[in-house]
Amino acid sequence: MRGRLFITLEGGEGAGKTTSLGLVREWLQQVGHEVVVTREPGGTELGERIRELLLHRQELAISTETEVLLMFAARAEHLARVIQPALAAGKTVLCDRFTDATYAYQGGGRGVSEARIAALESWVQGDLRPDLTLLLDVPVDLGRERAASARAPDRFEREPDRFFERVRATYLARAAREPGRIRVIDAGRKPEEVARAIAAILHEVVHAAG
Ligand code: TMP
Repeated sequence: MRGRLFITLEGGEGAGKTTSLGLVREWLQQVGHEVVVTREPGGTELGERIRELLLHRQELAISTETEVLLMFAARAEHLARVIQPALAAGKTVLCDRFTDATYAYQGGGRGVSEARIAALESWVQGDLRPDLTLLLDVPVDLGRERAASARAPDRFEREPDRFFERVRATYLARAAREPGRIRVIDAGRKPEEVARAIAAILHEVVHAAG
């Protein structure tokens, strides 16, 4: 059984993360990986409750520091109960968002220093980092146009465009610093072109990993 890759998917609003997640899962399964699909914040019972507090309880005031700490509290639980056991069992973990999102949203978006996030990252994760991060990049206005839906926006979706511009810029800056791990996909293209780009990256990275 091939496995043991830790792959994360990131992107702004309307980047098509859900569709891409399905494509990546199918691709990995076809080449013989046993895939655990999960998400952040969330992925455990406690993590999903924290997600509910962070995203959907608009009546709750949450300070920026608390927001970061709750993200990492959910992450600690997720790592201990889901991610690390799956990797140890030789499975491949495909996670919808991970710590790059904290750098982008709480760091870039809310202004928390990179050093503080990095300190929590090493405390909670030790040396564990994703093997591959697919960053679905789309201009903010196009993404928001696509994401506009009938359901009520969550706490992040209520933020103005300038927040999402900072989120996007932070993701892209991180990708420029770590081009081997974070692969940027232009998600403003047609779905079939995005799918081809994802398949090409997976082919390269997964086969290189053996
Ligand atoms: P999503 O599952 O639709 O991407 O929603 C998750 C939201 O949580 C999204 O707006 C990004 C945000 N988020 C953070 O702000 N920091 C984090 O560390 C993570 C994992 C997500």
